Order: sequence, then structure tokens, then C-alpha cells
Amino acid sequence: MYFKKVDLKISADAIDVFKLKGEHRCSFPGIKHFEILDRTYFDSIFNFNFNILPINIFFVHIHSPLGPHTDYEQFACLNYYINSSDAKTCFWEPKENAVRVTNDRYDVSTNTVEKVEQLYKYKDLIMVDSFVANNNDSYFLNISKIHSVEFTKPVARTAIQFQWDNSISYEELINKLTFKEM
Ligand SMILES: [Fe+2]
Repeated sequence: MYFKKVDLKISADAIDVFKLKGEHRCSFPGIKHFEILDRTYFDSIFNFNFNILPINIFFVHIHSPLGPHTDYEQFACLNYYINSSDAKTCFWEPKENAVRVTNDRYDVSTNTVEKVEQLYKYKDLIMVDSFVANNNDSYFLNISKIHSVEFTKPVARTAIQFQWDNSISYEELINKLTFKEM
């Protein structure tokens, strides 16, 4: 399984991104992760409880297409798309002898760039699944699988991203996770 659409009902007609987008925490080329600025505001909108707590919740800003990659030290995340930008999220399987190359992970707090082995070349891959999210849709992503974000128009994609650490696989999380609306 590569992804799963879920029905995450939030308690707001419109989201004030200026209350959500806090300090820049880290980035890869094309994507930036920001802290949640106003946690009280956030909790008033995303007011449900996970039985397995995410390790991080970020405001995510994707300003250009993301090439095929696996995620850094994580297997699963849940994205709530504020502005999906009609981008296409694609999943891939590697051909035999596919080569993995390094990507630059920038950590704002230490002002350092770490080389992380996670990128693939399109020629080494076979596309196996994809989806185009609408605004306000939520998807679980198996980010241990190779995935890319293909833009169809030059509009940044924004999302709230719930991240779980790699102590739990995507399948296990999908099977065990429950979330209660408060
Ligand atoms: Fe990713």
C-alpha cells in the first residue's frame, strides 16, 4: 500500500495560515517545514486525539516539484492539504540496480546541511500509483516508498503534516491508528 485517503473533519470553514506558519525548522530543496505558530488556534481546528501520537506536526510548504525520494527517518505521515495546488503525488518502485543519491537536508537551528541518501532518478523507476488531492483532503502516505510531487501549475502546495517516527511501519500505523474528534 502506498497511500490511503482519510476523512479528517476539521472545525473551521477557512484556515488562517498566518496563525499556523511559525518558525522555519528544516528543509530539503523544494520543501520547507515550519513549526506550528499558534498551538491554541491549531488545537481549535484540528481537535481530535490520536491513540498513537505523532512525533512532529509541521506546516509544510512545497514551492517546487519534489523528485522521487524516500523520507528522512520516517515511514508514515498524514497530510492535510490546505492548498493542494492540484499537484500529483506519485509512487514508484525501483528497477533492478536503481541508484540512490544524496539530497541536502538543511537544519535551521544548527545552520548545517546534512547529506541524506534518499533521491532516485526517474529512469531507474516504474510508477505504480498516484493521486491528486483536493484542498482540505487528508491522505496517509507511505513515505518509506519512493514518491515524488509533480506540479501541474506554478502554485505552492501547503499542508499540515503529522509525522510518526520509524518505530512504526506504515502498515502497522494504518491498522492500529484511531483518531477521535474531541
Ligand atoms: Fe517525502
